Amino acid sequence: LRPHTAGPRDGVPVVDISATGPGATPIQQVMDLMREHGPVLLRRLHGRDTLFVADLDLVTDLADEERFAKHIGPALENVRAFAADGLFTAYNDEPNWAKAHDILMPAFALGSMRAYHPVMLRVARRLIDSWDRAARAGRPVDVPDDMTRMTLDTIGLAGFGYDFGSFERTEPHPFVESMVRCLEWSMTRLARIPGEDHSAADAAFRADAAHLARVVDDVIAARTGLVRQETGDLLGLMLTAGHPADGTTLDAANIRNQVITFLIAGHETTSGAMSFALYHLAKHPTALRLVQREVDALWGDTADPEPTYEEVGRLTYTRQVLNEALRLWPTAAAFSRHALDDTLLGGRVPLRAGQAVTVLTPMLHRQPVWGDNPELFDPARFTPEAEAARPVHAYKPFGTGERACIGRQFALHEATMLLALLVHRYRLHDHTGYRLRVKETLTLKPDGFTLTLTPRTAAD
Ligand code: HEM
Repeated sequence: LRPHTAGPRDGVPVVDISATGPGATPIQQVMDLMREHGPVLLRRLHGRDTLFVADLDLVTDLADEERFAKHIGPALENVRAFAADGLFTAYNDEPNWAKAHDILMPAFALGSMRAYHPVMLRVARRLIDSWDRAARAGRPVDVPDDMTRMTLDTIGLAGFGYDFGSFERTEPHPFVESMVRCLEWSMTRLARIPGEDHSAADAAFRADAAHLARVVDDVIAARTGLVRQETGDLLGLMLTAGHPADGTTLDAANIRNQVITFLIAGHETTSGAMSFALYHLAKHPTALRLVQREVDALWGDTADPEPTYEEVGRLTYTRQVLNEALRLWPTAAAFSRHALDDTLLGGRVPLRAGQAVTVLTPMLHRQPVWGDNPELFDPARFTPEAEAARPVHAYKPFGTGERACIGRQFALHEATMLLALLVHRYRLHDHTGYRLRVKETLTLKPDGFTLTLTPRTAAD
């Protein structure tokens, strides 16, 4: 069975995938459809149409905040079933969006990254201890699982003063298992054929969502039990900070939704980004050498370097590696916008007021602006000169406009430091000759990616 192509509508190819459904990898399916039909297409599924775009001029137009705004499409509507009016899934005009945004912004200002730095380093050490044990035992490490342990513990401790203790568990923390199933439910629900019975899947989802809510209640209770509540972390701001304009605080239901949102948004995508970066480094000896040169220049053969906040800012090539990993596989791979009024997108695609358009970021990141060989992993694409020469909207792993990622600096600081520490310490062995399989659970991860490790010696 192949997708069926209907006649174009307004010049846009229409591809009906009802015969096959979107499968387990809907993002990669649309990527393939775009390779065949071009970077603008209407995907039809059981009579429901989604307009996907990746053309640079169209994405540039969609970034115009006067004419377009974030759209909560069917996938995020499903996520709303457990994150409701948390920052990620709030409607633009829901008063709690602006309120929480204004209250929480200070927690993501540059000065706050300095405050998170020691916690990030502490959790990085947990990962290193665990990888040292694996290296000594000659045991492979499961890269995405361990990256998830590390990012969950980091957001838990840095944001909420709550310790998930993920490295003391052989299995992922139950919060992660419930979360992954909730995200999978949000994704697979999109492919349902009208009239089918999904009551068992929906009951399982409700149980998982209830579990997430219980963990969140624990996180909040652990803090409100303390005498001092006014710490400057995320939870402190959520519980006590007044809005800069009118002094009102977030209500209890919204705090729950924010905690769930930040626990998920704050770790899942960063974990995938670091996993892809390690995958690329394991496959590209030249890039690996350049990261080694950078970290060795900073830390030489110090056995246990103590990176300072400023040093992480100097890891420019390591940061380029991460940027390039997020170009090829932006781990939150799509975001949606809607037109505020009837308009012509890019002067050529008619849209009605309220009509949605989904940007398929991995294909935007493979458009001609990226040169002749966009599939090639090449961190040199992110030198300051190359960045300055490129149109700003060619690269959108963190979304766009006022609804863009609030946690971008947090993610990049955490990930840059960890990657640098790992490359400084270990030789990475691609012991299975891993072939990339990208797993989709709304976000992207390299599936089943393992490495073996040996300590680097002065000669490496
Ligand atoms: C929003 C990507 C890390 C919290 C977004 C959006 C994207 C994104 C694409 C916009 C979604 C849309 O337009 O629908 C990523 C990636 C990350 C990352 C690729 C890691 C590499 C983080 C971290 C946090 C975070 C570490 C928190 C500590 C959020 C929140 C929003 C958001 C709360 C919603 C902002 C709003 O609408 O006001 N992220 N993110 N993200 N992200 Fe991230």
